[in-house]
Amino acid sequence: MTTSAVVVAMPGNEPLADELAARLGLERGVATVRRFPDEESYVRIESPVSGRGTLIVCTLDRPDDKLVPLFLLAAALREAGAQSVGLVAPYLAYMRQDRRFQPGETISAHHVGAWISRSADWLVTVDPHLHRITDLSQVFSIPSRAVHAAGSVAEWIGAHVHDPLLIGPDEESAQWVGAVAEHAHAPFVVLRKTRRGDRDVEVSLPDVERWRSHTPVLVDDIVSTAHTMIETVGHLRQAGLAAPVCVAVHAVFARAAFEDLRAAGAGEIVSCDTIRHPSNRISLAPAIAASVRTLLPARGHQTRPMQSGSSNP
Ligand code: R5P
Repeated sequence: MTTSAVVVAMPGNEPLADELAARLGLERGVATVRRFPDEESYVRIESPVSGRGTLIVCTLDRPDDKLVPLFLLAAALREAGAQSVGLVAPYLAYMRQDRRFQPGETISAHHVGAWISRSADWLVTVDPHLHRITDLSQVFSIPSRAVHAAGSVAEWIGAHVHDPLLIGPDEESAQWVGAVAEHAHAPFVVLRKTRRGDRDVEVSLPDVERWRSHTPVLVDDIVSTAHTMIETVGHLRQAGLAAPVCVAVHAVFARAAFEDLRAAGAGEIVSCDTIRHPSNRISLAPAIAASVRTLLPARGHQTRPMQSGSSNP
């Protein structure tokens, strides 16, 4: 009787699920996830999971349509006897809603974290947007691992960009661009950003004249509307720098953001593969697999993984 864990993909997550199964020697499970004509979700686990560890792969960009079927699938796995249910969510949604910005709002990150913690036994994600919330354990009551993309991003920059100057578009990006710069042994600067609304962002530059001979590389964790990067690209071009390479860990790219960024004068636009997008160039599957390995129950045993941690590829 096999006791390896079973990897189940939510729709669209099959490539990472396949790769995790292959790298970790796990079984690829079969599940049906679809919608009824009235738009309610239908889920069914078809593989035997009784007594076995399981993990669901589901990146959580555009999360509202994904969370209900995800919760139902986790419930279905438990009801089918799964020993544990892990969640691999390379992009973790709602982490930017980490404060009550206006009276009457709620801190959505806490609620979404609590819902996920009720559904899953452990979580692996990639570079969650930890800003006012500084550790995943403040949001999730389950063991969690944050994979860091910095090493892989630095490797890509080292192989593809001549004489890079890494640029963080705002203070919040400092932690990511600083880590990438350290791995890449490259200089970096962090700019100042003022956000006046969802789509109204102003970026101010310090003197970058002395970096003229370098290739500017913008690095941010998330590109959503791309307004942060677009503003920065504009300022860099005005200052006479070359078209900057734009690197995002999470390629959310809302609506026409990708095309808008191109039209604004960006050079190559590159992302990690936490969200499937034509700009994906940097694979994080090996790093994610290494973190998943630390959380899987030992074959045939129930283990209690450590609470929270992070890992660098
Ligand atoms: C800021 O909090 C993040 O690090 C990103 O700079 C931000 O999420 C990018 O958003 P947008 O692409 O909508 O400007």
